[in-house]
Amino acid sequence: MTTEAVDLLVADLHPALGDPALTSMNFLNEVSERYPAAVSLAAGRPYEEFFDVAAVHRHLETFHRHLVDDLGHRPEQARRLLLQYGRTKGIVHHLIARNLAVDEQITVDPEAVVVTVGCQEAMFLVLRALRAGPADVLLAVAPTYVGLTGAARLVDLPVWPVAGGPTGVDLADLRAQVRRARAQGHRPRACYVMPDFANPSGVSIDTADRRRLLALAAEEDLLLLEDNPYGLFPVDDGPRPPTLKALDTDRRVVYLGSFAKTVLPGARVGYVVADQRVAGTDGRVGPLADQLAMIKSMVTVNTSPIAQAVIGGRLLEHGCSLVPANTRERAAYSRNMRHLVAGLTRRFPADPDRPAAVRWTVPAGGFFVVVTVPFEVDDALLDISARDYGVLWTPMAHFYDDTVPVRALRLSVSAVTPEQIDVGLDRLAALITDVLARSAD
Ligand SMILES: Cc1ncc(COP(=O)(O)O)c(C=O)c1O
Repeated sequence: MTTEAVDLLVADLHPALGDPALTSMNFLNEVSERYPAAVSLAAGRPYEEFFDVAAVHRHLETFHRHLVDDLGHRPEQARRLLLQYGRTKGIVHHLIARNLAVDEQITVDPEAVVVTVGCQEAMFLVLRALRAGPADVLLAVAPTYVGLTGAARLVDLPVWPVAGGPTGVDLADLRAQVRRARAQGHRPRACYVMPDFANPSGVSIDTADRRRLLALAAEEDLLLLEDNPYGLFPVDDGPRPPTLKALDTDRRVVYLGSFAKTVLPGARVGYVVADQRVAGTDGRVGPLADQLAMIKSMVTVNTSPIAQAVIGGRLLEHGCSLVPANTRERAAYSRNMRHLVAGLTRRFPADPDRPAAVRWTVPAGGFFVVVTVPFEVDDALLDISARDYGVLWTPMAHFYDDTVPVRALRLSVSAVTPEQIDVGLDRLAALITDVLARSAD
């Protein structure tokens, strides 16, 4: 209990403040700050070894030249576009549309793109727009990215979990939840889903289920919010499955994009493709993107044009494809994923006579592996792990929007070296062995 004089009570502020969905990221950051020597298998940050300050300047210059040479802007116009307040929907929308065509076979009108301050802002804008009244709810495949849950809290939109399961989305449960919500007088506005190497589950939805999901969305008249920050990082070579948006023929899918993992997290640039046709109060029909831009104009005004130019320059330097641009990154994540899975197999060998006490997922890509253990994994255990064992990970409970105990933790392979993975896994194995021994006493 604080004895300091206070001016305001959190209870008098927005109810989302103090909610676990909002405090989760801060809590996890605080733990890693408190134990800087601990190996972090918690952070889902991109690999830093390839960060290049000189490249940022080059990208900026490339985009500047594009404005003058390709788009025919006069020097003072180009300067204004880069340095002045700007178009709410952004200045690299045409390059994003080209990138989606080249990398994902998604055809979009650049006018349906809003460039945002990270994907996080894109999620916020979409949820703010969709939440029209107290009957509205959002469905989200569980476990769910905590940034989505937190954004929903801020716009007073309840999140109803839909079972993810081994296939990435339990379609029967999705249909049941839609019908249950409607039967109770609620209006499910959309279902949030991450078909490619989901955060935190690592699970992907196969192409047949993607088609079924779209068919179900059409039958139930439901929007899908597709979040795809990790799709370019499969472990193995070979064709990537089509995104939902690429398969979407009737504007069911709002596509959320991030350049944090594929270009630079510090640029804080993401986007949303919202081509749903909305009839305005004046009777004119335009893309949902225009409504999102209206909200954006009151939240961040416009995304930094300097940051957009850095992303735009990188896109231009690679023919608008981020696949070859991420060859080194993909190789590092792929190597780390294989190394982590092999390391788990070595440290927790299968015993043919006993069911496995410790199990883990083997994702086909992305950053995350989920380890399931026979005891509850909570923040207190994370604290013990950081303090006494020197290893950080994320309790899976942070990705469930309830207080039911969860016996699983998330490991991330993105910001570490194979050597750090080895040290981290040795320490994690020691922790798990000790907890199991204690519970056997
Ligand atoms: C699933 C998911 N969506 C969105 C984001 C946020 O992306 P951005 O950094 O572009 O805001 C993240 C970040 O880790 C994420 O994992």
